Amino acid sequence: MSTEETPPYGSGVSTSSTAPVRRIRTHHLREMKQRGERFAMLTAYEQYAAETFDEAGIEVLLVGDSASNNVYGNETSLPVTVEELIPLVRAVTRSAHRALVVADLPFGSYQASAEQAYLTAVRFMKEANAHAVKLEGGVEMVPQVRKLTEGGIPVMAHIGFTPQSEHNLGGYRVQGRGEAAAKVLAEARAMEEAGAFAVVMEMVPGDVAAEVTKAVSIPTIGIGAGVECDGQVLVWQDAFGLRTGRMAKFVKQYADLHGVLLQAARDYAADVKAGTFPGPEHTF
Ligand code: KIV
Repeated sequence: MSTEETPPYGSGVSTSSTAPVRRIRTHHLREMKQRGERFAMLTAYEQYAAETFDEAGIEVLLVGDSASNNVYGNETSLPVTVEELIPLVRAVTRSAHRALVVADLPFGSYQASAEQAYLTAVRFMKEANAHAVKLEGGVEMVPQVRKLTEGGIPVMAHIGFTPQSEHNLGGYRVQGRGEAAAKVLAEARAMEEAGAFAVVMEMVPGDVAAEVTKAVSIPTIGIGAGVECDGQVLVWQDAFGLRTGRMAKFVKQYADLHGVLLQAARDYAADVKAGTFPGPEHTF
């Protein structure tokens, strides 16, 4: 009688603990802010990263439109589509049992009108089980944020440097220096008033982000916005060194996954060429 083998290629079933856990909700983040507790957010685009970050206790996973340049090989976040992001969001929501999973609305899928934003966001909620959506922009996005939140969809706002507007902003530039600080504050307030549950601030001077964090009751999440934000977010391939090359000043690298993978791939190839893999222990 043959015995059952370990499923090949991964079974789609988590190998981490299946003990029931309490899902992080938007109100938990607000309560953390009120208690002065910081939280962590990372991007995730697929099963194993999502499972690992969830197990590590990362409170929020963002399926960012940065999948465009971290999964699909584009130069910027602009080309990625709703159709390309939905399967990634679905994989992450299937894999994360505790984290709040936020789906980024891609460029062109929400700017035209509040109705367009609502229809796009509904697709992420229904087809991919997202728990919330994120969109970029400040005061001009008030109708969109209002429509979504009134329609039952939690919204994370994204202000400061907004990569989808890279060409309009004249490239990757710090936003909110000098007199422009008031604009960042006004945008954060507008997003709070429209119903957003949190606001990402990207590439904003630390003192400005600190002032915004004090001024609004919703959590602020910094990426290049200093330590006074309520939470921090990084793109995981940057933070853990899967991507190589020049990094933004705000990235801290916690690992060298590119080096680890490169060595593993070289060792494997060398074993295959030398005839030392598979060994008897890998052979039926
Ligand atoms: O798409 C993304 O990864 C983001 C984060 C950088 C906040 O929007």
